[in-house]
Amino acid sequence: MTELRIERLLPTDFLASSLRQDARAGLTASPKSLPPKWFYDAQGSALFEKITELREYYPTRAERAILRSASAEIAAASRAHTLVELGSGSSDKTRLLLDALREAGSLRRYVPVDVSESALRAAAHRLLAGYPGLSVHAVVSDFGRNLGLPADDAHQPRMIAFLGSTIGNMLPAQRAEFLARIRASLSVGDTLLLGTDLVKDPATLVAAYDDPAGITGAFNKNVLAVLNTQLGADFDLDTFDHVALWDPENEWIEMRLRSSLAQSVRLPAIELTVEFADGEQMRTEVSAKFRRDGIESELAAAGFAMRSWWTDPERLFGLSLSVPA
Ligand code: SAH
Ligand code: AVI
Repeated sequence: MTELRIERLLPTDFLASSLRQDARAGLTASPKSLPPKWFYDAQGSALFEKITELREYYPTRAERAILRSASAEIAAASRAHTLVELGSGSSDKTRLLLDALREAGSLRRYVPVDVSESALRAAAHRLLAGYPGLSVHAVVSDFGRNLGLPADDAHQPRMIAFLGSTIGNMLPAQRAEFLARIRASLSVGDTLLLGTDLVKDPATLVAAYDDPAGITGAFNKNVLAVLNTQLGADFDLDTFDHVALWDPENEWIEMRLRSSLAQSVRLPAIELTVEFADGEQMRTEVSAKFRRDGIESELAAAGFAMRSWWTDPERLFGLSLSVPA
């Protein structure tokens, strides 16, 4: 029998407390910044899905191509009984893994973990129809605080999938802490499947984050709409421009919002008024790009040994399977 359970691990005051803290810290810092997890309300999650369909946004297509050709090998290597997916979003590419694990006969449970309850619920309901017998235990959580991993029941192998290169949205120190935290909760027999977008020519990279249709711009500005809705702020989205640039030293794309005029913005819920200078830029996201050696070293530093590495034919994206070292 198919079973769906939705567990909410977010503290009840998540929006009231975490968003307030992040908004205050980020908007009073110099330069200003906001953490990317706040993009993903229902509207932001829907905009991200539109991004994945853009011609310029190659990561989703490239990772899907890898999964299409490597899923059987991944399933055979992991023999996972439970697939846990961090930042699962629409769980769309995940179907390739679920199919292969089902084919291999090991799969019993899928645990999608996401901060976006709307994306999680929609994905979980869509999946139930196609996977009779699969138990879906969806977890609403901020994986920066709580990974939402189910207990290691009777040493059945678990595979943790972190796809889409969402790891690139963390700063290097956050990545190190995050990978170490995953490692600490895994046992021998568990595996980590990690998707990483690769360093490539800057024109291809910038185009993927600055599409002419303006979908990425709308996604970027959505973080201001979240502050308006949740904190009663009065950001005028039309007075901010979307900026995407390649930072060759850090090898990351940086998304920013640039104020097109000098202005004051009020955030009554946190009793804050913020001044923006004409042309001032605020960082809203980094999207780091990786090289095989670099991510292998980061994994090793966290206590993982990389066992397999796959790329798509154009070498745009990398997918690795690692085990506890
Ligand atoms: N894995 C999917 C979705 C990537 S978009 C894919 O490859 O297409 C990034 C996803 O991570 C979104 O669904 C977002 O809601 C989720 N996310 C971002 N920050 C998060 C956090 N701190 N905790 C949990 N989920 C988060
Ligand atoms: C979810 N994450 C990996 C996306 C990325 O490419 O960094 C988010 C995104 N930002 C702009 N476009 C897509």
